Amino acid sequence: MTQGRFITFEGGEGSGKSTQAHLLQQKLGEISIEAVLTREPGGSPGAEEIRHLLMRGESERWSPLSETMLLYAARADHLMRTIRPSLRRGYWVISDRFADSSHAYQGAASGVSTELLDQLDAAVVESTRPELTVILDIPADIGLKRAERRQDEEEFRLEDRFERRRLDFHERLRQGFLEVAERSPERCVVIDGLKPAEEVAALVWHAVQTRLLETE
Ligand code: TMP
Repeated sequence: MTQGRFITFEGGEGSGKSTQAHLLQQKLGEISIEAVLTREPGGSPGAEEIRHLLMRGESERWSPLSETMLLYAARADHLMRTIRPSLRRGYWVISDRFADSSHAYQGAASGVSTELLDQLDAAVVESTRPELTVILDIPADIGLKRAERRQDEEEFRLEDRFERRRLDFHERLRQGFLEVAERSPERCVVIDGLKPAEEVAALVWHAVQTRLLETE
């Protein structure tokens, strides 16, 4: 059986990546490609428990380094229990966030060194790197507003400590994702997340067709 393909969606708060990940799963289903939709932090029972630790409590609860170690512990479990077994069985895997989020949030926005993050990637992610990463780019102020609106709508979000951070954090975050794309242009496609969802979905589908389906 051929190994499945691995796709990740990345971007700041409220960039629309979860919607797009769902739409891509549906679209692949229409051409009989079964894709497992997963997310980070989380995606396996153990990693979901770690997500709970990360997302609740005061915004200063964890230092950037502690946060990084928790995220990579969750990622190791997610890879072992969900991503690698699914790929081996021939399923495609779509993850709503993956290691690039650590480079943007903990690295660019919070000061953890790229060297450390690269070392953790080498030890934890190993060769299970995404073949395609869609980065949904939106201006920091709009991302922040969208994130705040979500907080009003969902009680859970009131306790979402990541989103309490201010605008400058969101600016560094945005730059962090753009740096990820510059470092790995063969893997990443940056899409304007302000476009209507159908337009973004069409651009995502174009990237999947040209970068993954036509090279099979
Ligand atoms: P979500 O809102 O997309 O579910 O993401 C949850 C939060 O986790 C979001 O604020 C970003 C944060 N996060 C990191 O800071 N580093 C990471 O490596 C990952 C995967 C998520």
